[in-house]
Amino acid sequence: MKKTAFLIAAFLCVLTTMHLNAQSQTGRGKILIAYFTLPETDGVDTVSGASRVVVDGKVSGNVEFVANIIHKTVGGDLFAIRTARAYPGEHQPLLEAVQNEQKANVHPPLATHISSLQNYDTIFLGYPIWWYDLPMPVYSFLDEYNLAGKTIIPFTVHGGSRFSGTVEKITQLEPGATVSKEGIAISRNDAARSECDVIAWLRRLGMAR
Ligand SMILES: Cc1cc2nc3c(=O)[nH]c(=O)nc-3n(C[C@H](O)[C@H](O)[C@H](O)COP(=O)(O)O)c2cc1C
Repeated sequence: MKKTAFLIAAFLCVLTTMHLNAQSQTGRGKILIAYFTLPETDGVDTVSGASRVVVDGKVSGNVEFVANIIHKTVGGDLFAIRTARAYPGEHQPLLEAVQNEQKANVHPPLATHISSLQNYDTIFLGYPIWWYDLPMPVYSFLDEYNLAGKTIIPFTVHGGSRFSGTVEKITQLEPGATVSKEGIAISRNDAARSECDVIAWLRRLGMAR
């Protein structure tokens, strides 16, 4: 029964993406997929409701998993936003560390930097929701780069808060950029099986190659 449902879903996925492919537009420009992710090291199971996805033995953060689907579908360059100081890997200490960082409005120094931002026209910006907000490393990223003239397409994998006002925050912080209101918010419960939805979304945007 489960197998039949899976096969029907896969068939519908192929049909939808074929149809949307016919509608795809051109003019994607040069693309960067920048993302912040932090797969937790403990507890939660790795298929549903987890802060990480395991496929073929490879562990990735939820947002990283989606960033890779976007990369496979649109091309461009991947860029992982990483902090100079590591966060705790375990859930409870991580929650506390992040809450303290938010309260103190710390924008942590980053360990990774984009060498030639002028190369890009469109920036997919992916992040988890942390305490109803952007993770502080994403604020550091937005401090570091002036994205005026670029199109920013946000995506998030969240635990229930969806975008939680973060698209508006990005719009305020990057007033010269065009921030898309057509970003995608995926529940972490669905992250591991989100590929079809992500591809369909990219085709609706005219971004799939
Ligand atoms: C410190 C912390 C705070 C979080 N706060 C929220 C929240 O306010 N709302 C929400 O929907 N999810 C929240 N989550 C869940 C994450 O957004 C979710 O697990 C996400 O998919 C993690 O992505 P990642 O594995 O790529 O880091 C929080 C997770 C952490 C670690």
